[in-house]
Amino acid sequence: MSDTLDEFMAQCRARCDTGLRLHGGFGGQLAQVAGLADLEAALDYALEANGKRIRPCLLYAAGRAITATADLDSALDHPACALELIHTYSLIHDDLPSMDDDDLRRGRPTLHKAFDEPTAILVGDGLQARAFELIADAPGVSAAQKVDMIRLLASAAGPGGMVGGQFLDIAGTGRPLLLDELQDMHALKTGALIRAALSLGAIAAGASASQQEALESYGEHVGLAFQVVDDILDVEGSTVTLGKTGGKDALANKTTYVSLLGLAGARETAEHLLDGALEALEPFGESADMLRGLARFVVNREA
Ligand code: IPE
Ligand code: IPE
Ligand code: MG
Ligand code: MG
Ligand code: MG
Repeated sequence: MSDTLDEFMAQCRARCDTGLRLHGGFGGQLAQVAGLADLEAALDYALEANGKRIRPCLLYAAGRAITATADLDSALDHPACALELIHTYSLIHDDLPSMDDDDLRRGRPTLHKAFDEPTAILVGDGLQARAFELIADAPGVSAAQKVDMIRLLASAAGPGGMVGGQFLDIAGTGRPLLLDELQDMHALKTGALIRAALSLGAIAAGASASQQEALESYGEHVGLAFQVVDDILDVEGSTVTLGKTGGKDALANKTTYVSLLGLAGARETAEHLLDGALEALEPFGESADMLRGLARFVVNREA
């Protein structure tokens, strides 16, 4: 892989998009089954969407920080796609009328708008199951590594991770949260899958315990920073740039870093988290430069 961050990210995105097309989807097979053509069309709609693919980028960058093995990237393809499938499912459910009730996602109508609500629920369920199938079928990793990755992803996606955070988000909507409560919620709803990106890359690349620990600390900082910046962008970003409707958090009466600390305070928190992420990478040399660049990207992004 090449050297600038832009090139690295473009290559990671291309690998992820190709992987989602080749392995995430069903290549017309479902449409052969009587009555399932519309389900396959809805799955394709979800997989073709134009996401930033930041979690796959982090996963490939974590692998690169650990080893320069030539065929590492092909061993990371399935875990990277699996993580993106879980993330995509989480967005489809997040947008449902009973959750955040959003009409726009990744610059297009949300899945329940383009299709219907039951289809959106089932596509989310289907993407989640597909993710674990992809790890089970991953080439270039041992059976033991697959079990570790499946356990890790299940735990990050489940009630002790993203689902738990989403539950806290919905349960807390309309009542003011304390900063500690908000931080715990963000660490679960968004942080858990971002931490998983680092840990999946670390497992596939055979990281030592101390390397895993450093990557976990980096992941904690970047994961929280990601959602702090998402809260900022909800206020500052335009719907066109974001590809999703801005201003929704205040409208839904959600506690966010901006509602508690103001824009300047939230921005300062994101910068502190960036410092913490970079500090966590101190044990690594140049091999972690893409992780350093990605942490800056997460904090300085405009979408
Ligand atoms: C949006 O995630 C939801 C959050 C966890 C804040 P992304 O900003 O990574 O969304 P895509 O994948 O680029 O659409
Ligand atoms: C969503 O957080 C986190 C998920 C687990 C999907 P948000 O509800 O803030 O994400 P956006 O702003 O709709 O992308
Ligand atoms: Mg939400
Ligand atoms: Mg939302
Ligand atoms: Mg948001």
